[in-house]
Amino acid sequence: MAVRPVLKMGDPLLLRKAEPVSAFDTDDLRSLISDMFDTMEAANGAGLAAPQIGVSSRVVIFGLDANPRYPDAEPVPTTVLINPRIQVLGDEIEDGWEGCLSVPGLRGLVPRASHIRYQGFDPTGRRIDREVAGFHARVVQHECDHLDGILYPMRIRDMRQFGFENVLFPEFAPEPERSESS
Ligand code: NI
Repeated sequence: MAVRPVLKMGDPLLLRKAEPVSAFDTDDLRSLISDMFDTMEAANGAGLAAPQIGVSSRVVIFGLDANPRYPDAEPVPTTVLINPRIQVLGDEIEDGWEGCLSVPGLRGLVPRASHIRYQGFDPTGRRIDREVAGFHARVVQHECDHLDGILYPMRIRDMRQFGFENVLFPEFAPEPERSESS
């Protein structure tokens, strides 16, 4: 159990296609997931993919109660999703602001499918099968992109909608940054 360093954009590991998990309910898998939760919570993230801590496995975690990084987002149940598959439902696309622990300090406006079905497995190998929309659908698409070596800036349509979060959203900047800028 440990907070692990998060790889940052530019690291070639973030661009690799991750390997499927072949054994469930193992000590290795449990300790990977435990490190992922420690790392995500320490960084106040809404999700994390294994490649972000340097492990090329198809494992993502996500979940959100009330998160200061995402003040307007609806809650998302805490989930471990392994070997995920996403199916887009309908053709509705919506733009939303995203950030990423591998792209610190920045936010970009990213188009995502509004409704999806996702399937995969939990750490014990039990099936997960959900239909979701909105922020939940966005988080899953963002995290699963990491497993295919895709970072959200690659999906931004209008690069004018990409910038530093304390400039774009000064009202949400933590106190120290706010006082620096005044
Ligand atoms: Ni990310």
